[in-house]
Amino acid sequence: MLSLFLVLVERVIMLLSPQAEKNWEGLCSMLEDVLEDQSHRQLFALELGSGTGQHVIRFAQKMPFVTWQPSDIKEESRDSIKAYIAATHAKTILQPVHLDASEPWEKWAGVPRSSCDVVIAINLLQYSSFKTAQGLFSGAGQILKLNGLLITYGAYAINGTITPSCNEQLDEEIRKMNPEWGLPDIDVLRQLAYGNGMRMERIIEMEEYYKCLIFRKI
Ligand SMILES: *[C@@H]1O[C@H](CO)[C@@H](O)[C@H](O)[C@H]1NC(C)=O
Repeated sequence: MLSLFLVLVERVIMLLSPQAEKNWEGLCSMLEDVLEDQSHRQLFALELGSGTGQHVIRFAQKMPFVTWQPSDIKEESRDSIKAYIAATHAKTILQPVHLDASEPWEKWAGVPRSSCDVVIAINLLQYSSFKTAQGLFSGAGQILKLNGLLITYGAYAINGTITPSCNEQLDEEIRKMNPEWGLPDIDVLRQLAYGNGMRMERIIEMEEYYKCLIFRKI
């Protein structure tokens, strides 16, 4: 009786994002490709803004050589991530932590300096103010190991221009939610990275005019 009840409770708090169900395969392939040459050793990855937890459980299933630390600012997201971890019996995902990327890295849930091989942020920057973007790059610059990677996935402006029209609409919709948010400019992020000891190494085209940006700690 008790275990049945617990399963039901888990179902209720496992949040489902239709977008995450659509894009996880592309993200997994991208990550497997980017991390392939390091798959002989155990890596440590911090995910910022893990949301429902749908991505991290797929990443863990496909890439057992990575220990995943999910995080989110929202309690309901952390509850959802915990429920996904329990439901999938994931062994390589740590319990989610509260992390606000706009805070200085010392407040990033105790993640030590130079401890991460990967920091990944999926669909986070377009829903962030510039202050949060600054915090994210500054924090990533501190917690990444030398040669570690910061990977950001989302839609972007390029040199002040947003194309095509679907991305312009997306930017307008996001700015209606919060005028401080919106599609970040790749060249602004490139400079933020440079100012924090990282170099933008690759732009990977993803589905529906989304991109992954790969920054390396130098
Ligand atoms: C933005 O413009 C500069 C100067 O023309 C160019 O070097 C850079 O590659 C452009 N950015 C992107 C992301 O295409």
